[in-house]
Formats: sequence, structure tokens, C-alpha cells
Amino acid sequence: MKILMVSAEAVPFAKTGGLADMVSALAIQLSKMGHDVKIVMPRYYKIDRAKLQKLEGPMAISAGIQETWSAVYTTAMPGCESLKVYFIDHEACFGRDGVYGVAGETDFHDNPYRFAVLCHGAFQLCRKLGWFPDIIHAHDWSACLAPVLLKHVCRYCGFEKTASVLTIHNLGYQGQYSKDSFPALGIDWGLFYGASFEHNGGINFLQAGISSSDMITTVSPTYAREIQTPEGGFGMDGLLRERSAVVRGILNGADLTQWNPATDKKIPFRYSAKDMSGKAKCKAELQKKMGLPVREDVPVIGIVTRLAEQKGIAEIFAPGYGSMYDMCTKMDVQFAVLGSGESWCENEINVLQSKLPNMRAYIGYDDALSHLIEAGSDFFLMPSKYEPCGLNQIYSMLYGTLPIVRRTGGLADTVANYNENNADGTGFVFDNLTPRAVFDTVGWAVWAYYNKKQDIRKMQLRGMDTTFSWDSAANGYLEVYKEALSRGCGI
Ligand code: ADP
Ligand code: GLC
Repeated sequence: MKILMVSAEAVPFAKTGGLADMVSALAIQLSKMGHDVKIVMPRYYKIDRAKLQKLEGPMAISAGIQETWSAVYTTAMPGCESLKVYFIDHEACFGRDGVYGVAGETDFHDNPYRFAVLCHGAFQLCRKLGWFPDIIHAHDWSACLAPVLLKHVCRYCGFEKTASVLTIHNLGYQGQYSKDSFPALGIDWGLFYGASFEHNGGINFLQAGISSSDMITTVSPTYAREIQTPEGGFGMDGLLRERSAVVRGILNGADLTQWNPATDKKIPFRYSAKDMSGKAKCKAELQKKMGLPVREDVPVIGIVTRLAEQKGIAEIFAPGYGSMYDMCTKMDVQFAVLGSGESWCENEINVLQSKLPNMRAYIGYDDALSHLIEAGSDFFLMPSKYEPCGLNQIYSMLYGTLPIVRRTGGLADTVANYNENNADGTGFVFDNLTPRAVFDTVGWAVWAYYNKKQDIRKMQLRGMDTTFSWDSAANGYLEVYKEALSRGCGI
């Protein structure tokens, strides 16, 4: 099958979250299975042109009110020669720091135009290459104009047999803008209503994408159900229920070339289920690096996260009963925190670490440190309000680090709760998102660490032994692609 992934981010080129991991991992897996896969994404300022090849000639893109021009660069995906990544190089749109925004401007005002350039550019790229995909696979709101263009604009210009698939990685981000931005999209005003952009008088990219795609997927079976309920639907649940016949939930895998403690070059000592001694050394290294007292006997709890409301950060860090301050003063425990995002939370974390010798944080983005935290921690805390899939709890299990999670979305689908009677489970799971529940569940895990050492060991090994590879997920997507094609053009 010929598959074009349209995405605002893909590792190792640009990443703000798990979407970037997922897009590359899925594309690599499909490519290794023999499919003809390409990724198209923006060339952001930080992606060095000198390391890419330039395609000959400029490319006309009809976003906005008049045609604009871009260059196209390409390179092979590192580690997968057959997978080509194409970069739309448009200085005015992408020649700046930040994928969707930068600190202080979390959402660039011209995002409708920027991502219209990406999506129109995706079609132009295919024409330029004389390569017409069977499937256009769009990821999240920023790629949603692609299925809209396929259904309403480009169907008869070489894409007659192409079908579209939209993956919703996070329903909380919909790309909502004022109606004044509509001309930036470079499509007829008739499509404001005709392609279901209209939402509360403004435009909503995700809504249009959901309405226009042949198939819709999300990144775990539980989240596929949750988004069709008023509680989890962010206003899109009615539309998603209408389209439920084409909604599927496919659990993400992990990229085992990046996340395997036996081969991971980003950690100082490697280990496996057979010999865990490297994990203890990683723990000491983590404690040293973070400035925590180096103690083997104390449980270390890791946190790596975007500091966003979705992740349950208020329940961990906001002052009050049961929060970080309480956990650190009432339990013999250490916390190693890595994250960036909402400034109130960054500030609060800095205040906390000035008071608490057993909590250390690094505010920022640091890939190597995220690996060390996964390897060196005993537990990993992820009390998300909602979690479409979540990758860090999966990485944790692979690294023998027991996740402490809220039962929601992909967390519910991947972590089995500890059972004290038979040592079953792979982590610690709670239901209600309250500081109290976080405190109690962390307390339970810490108690087990000190009193149920054998159970902890069994759970670690069980987690490390779980298959989180991309094989079965990629097969799931192939089924979805076939169904999209069989549903044909038009819904
Ligand atoms: P989301 O995509 O919602 O942020 P996921 O759990 O799916 O959540 O993926 C998050 C990814 O981003 C993981 O690979 C995680 O290691 C990484 N990550 C998040 N914050 C940071 C950070 N501050 N530094 C390094 N990596 C981070
Ligand atoms: C989103 C979700 C996260 C998921 C990731 C990759 O960022 O918040 O849960 O794991 O996409 O699909």
C-alpha cells in the first residue's frame, strides 16, 4: 500500500509529545513490512537544511488568498532507508522556533495558515513526485485539512482512489479559531458549513477532519469509547457517535529501538530482566544527577510530563492536602521530576524543590534525562485526567519501573492493578482524580516497596516481559486502511 502520513511532528525531527513518537514508529513499522510510506511535515527552523536534500524547483501552494511558494527537502528516516520524510520549507510559516507556538504565545495566531500550507503542500508534493497514495493518514487537528481537501477539493486530480484516515491523538486540542481565519485555508467559503468547519460561529479543524475522513482512529480502545461520551468528548461526542461505525481504537506500541533498557545508549548502565544490576546503578546515577541523596533503600518516583492540566498536575503540585509537599514530608520517598509547560506549575515546582530535599526537578525538555528517569526510578507517577494512550507508562513497564496511574484511556488499557493476594498486576491504579487518591495510591506503592519486595520484583518482570511492539498495532492500521479503501471515496 502507498501511505502518506501528514503530521506537524515526527521524531527525530520535531517533537512536542507522544504524537511524534507514534507517527515515526508506525511509519517505520509499515515501511519495514514492505509498504510504500512517506511522511510529510514542516521544515521548522531547527531542522538543519544542510542535512537534507533539496528537491528541484519550487512548489506552488494555494493556501490563503493567493498562491504561495515553498521549497521541499527530503531525507531518509534514520534507521529506515526505505522511509522518506519530506519537509515543506516555507520560511514565513515555519522559519521560527516552536511547532504550534512558543512560551508566551502557546498558539501562533497564524496557525490556520501555517497548517493549511502543510496540507495543501502534501497534495502538491504527491503531484510533484507523480506518486499518488492509497491512503492519506492525517494526525490530529493540524493535519485535518488534508482529509477535507481529499473529500471536497482534490478528489478528481489524481487522488480518485485515495482514501483518508484521521488519527485523533488528543481530542483536547481541536484547532479552534475565529471565522476571520477561514480565508487562510485557501478553500471556498461554501466549505465553512459544507465541510463542517463551523463551530460556535468560528472554525474547528478537528470537527471538519472528523466529518471528512473515511475512517477515524484513536490511540487506545478505551479512549475510543470515552471520546463518544459527553464527559470525554470535548463537545465532539455527538459527531463521533454519529460516525461511530468508522471509529476504531488501536493501542500504540513502543519503539523498541529507542526504548529498550538492554540496548538504550542514553542510559549509563544497561540491563534486562535476567540481570537487573544495571538498574540499581542507573538509580544511583539518577539520584546523583538530580541532586538527591544517593540511597539504594529509598523508593524513587519519576515524573516526565508536559505540565498541562490533562496530566493531573494540579493534583500533584498545587498546594493542599495530599499533594507533593505532603508526600515528600510524610513518606520516606524521593521524587525525580522532568517537565515543562504551564508557568504556574513550573513556579510551584521550583518553590517545592527549594523546600524539599527529597524532590528534585528539571524544568525543560531533555530526552536523555527522560530515559534516565525511566531507568533509574522504582515507580512512575502519571495521574492523568484523561490519556488517549500515554507512552511513558509503557516505557516505564519496559524499564522495570512500576507505573502509578489513573484508570483512564490508554492507562486503563495497559496497566493492570496490583493484587496483594497473588502478586498479580503491573502497577498501581486508582479511579478518582483527587490529591487524596494520588497520595493514597503513592502511599500504597511505597508501602509495597518496603514490605512486599517479592511482589514488586514479580510485577517488574511481568512489565518488562510484556510485548509493546508495533507489529500488532501496524496490522490494526492496515485493517483500517483496507476498510477506508473499501468504503471508497465519499462518505
Ligand atoms: P503526551 O503526548 O500527551 O505528552 P505521551 O505519554 O504519549 O504523552 O508522550 C510523551 C512523550 O514526550 C514521551 O516520549 C516523553 O518521554 C516525552 N516527554 C514529555 N515531556 C518531556 C520532557 N520535559 N523532556 C523529555 N521528554 C519529554
Ligand atoms: C497524545 C496523547 C497521548 C498519546 C500520544 C501518542 O499526545 O496525549 O496519550 O500517547 O498522543 O498517540
